[in-house]
Amino acid sequence: MVRATIIRVLNSENLASLRGMKKDSCNIIVAEGLFAKNKIGRFVVELLNRTPTSCVIITDSTVKKLYGSILVQELSRIARTDLITLPPGERSKGFSQCTKILSDLAKLGLDREGALILLGGGVVGDIGGFAASIYKRGVKHVQIPTTLLAQIDSSIGGKTGVDTEWGKNQIGTIYQPAGVLIDPAFLKTLPRHEILNGIGEMIKYGVTSSAKIFSELEANDIESGSDITHLIEPCCKIKARIVSKDPNDFGIRSTLNYGHTIGHSLEAASNYTMSHGISVLVGMISEGWLAHELGLFQTTDFLRQEALIKRLLRKDSLLNLRMSQNRITKFALTDKKNASGKLRMSLPERIGRMHVTKDGSFKTPVPIDLLKPSIDYAKNVLSVA
Ligand code: NAD
Ligand code: GLY
Repeated sequence: MVRATIIRVLNSENLASLRGMKKDSCNIIVAEGLFAKNKIGRFVVELLNRTPTSCVIITDSTVKKLYGSILVQELSRIARTDLITLPPGERSKGFSQCTKILSDLAKLGLDREGALILLGGGVVGDIGGFAASIYKRGVKHVQIPTTLLAQIDSSIGGKTGVDTEWGKNQIGTIYQPAGVLIDPAFLKTLPRHEILNGIGEMIKYGVTSSAKIFSELEANDIESGSDITHLIEPCCKIKARIVSKDPNDFGIRSTLNYGHTIGHSLEAASNYTMSHGISVLVGMISEGWLAHELGLFQTTDFLRQEALIKRLLRKDSLLNLRMSQNRITKFALTDKKNASGKLRMSLPERIGRMHVTKDGSFKTPVPIDLLKPSIDYAKNVLSVA
């Protein structure tokens, strides 16, 4: 049995002998060129801890064009391999798409000793992980993330799900993958705005967990595309550490949701025309303001965060920010951190340190009437009228 809540991050030094790969853990392998080395089949078998009866790859049409046939070829060495393709983007992360995936899996005859291989960004990983968790009450899956955001965040930790009309990620499971294969070489084909989405989550790791990562990002020319791939492994390690401590998201894991109450609400209120990473960046400006307003976030660090985010966000990516405040509030009230109808957020005190309330919670109550001013503040800072 995989005790996947112990998550271990391995790198190229461990690869030759697969030294360090533990059978009772969810192993995450981060290594440049992994995908190109004719080794994917072997790694998949190692991560699954067995040869699967068959494999079904789930991907989107953009990623399929770039990497689909190589992966089919690689996995066909170990088992019969089929492929399910989704349209790219957040609109594929719905219940109807999930139902279609489940019926395709049944048509392809995937049994409980087969495996799903999720090749793509966070959308493929989230909906594919959800399908893996409910198909025949659960089949094993391996994540092969191809966006920066998925490599440092969504492929790790087992959060799966779909969006609904009443909010983002409102239905889902926590179901750990058998393993994660991360090859930074995938990022060579990733458009610049998708890299920015991933840098948004890197800034989140900086503010919530690592002053060192934050300072590195500050020192880098991130806005014009300097190479930040060396930060992938440290970010994965932070996520692995936090999820291993709190896999079911009742404690410290909620710190990884900083910027997300408002971020998710903006995404949903814009009908997903604003991307996840950009929405979270705006969400961090708003929630940073809230934390400062509540006397929690130290002023110098609040301003440092704002300055770094401003360097990344271009006005043309923010035009969709002009949505109705009522819609934003409605979605914020469906956030999973809330309790008894009260808004709660995970808020920072310093760069690298999150606030813990007197009763030991990482979720701080936030007066609902501060929501609108916090969004107005972000719009003002970003000069979106
Ligand atoms: P995405 O999956 O939509 O991918 C973005 C775009 O990049 C898509 O058009 C895709 O086709 C393209 N693409 C992917 N890899 C590529 C490559 N190597 N080269 C060229 N194009 C490529 O978006 P995303 O930003 O990866 O993920 C966002 C989703 O992740 C959201 O739904 C969000 O809720 C979810 N998420 C989940 C978690 C979690 O813990 N489960 C954490 C953070 C975000
Ligand atoms: N992305 C937040 C989490 O996995 O908990």
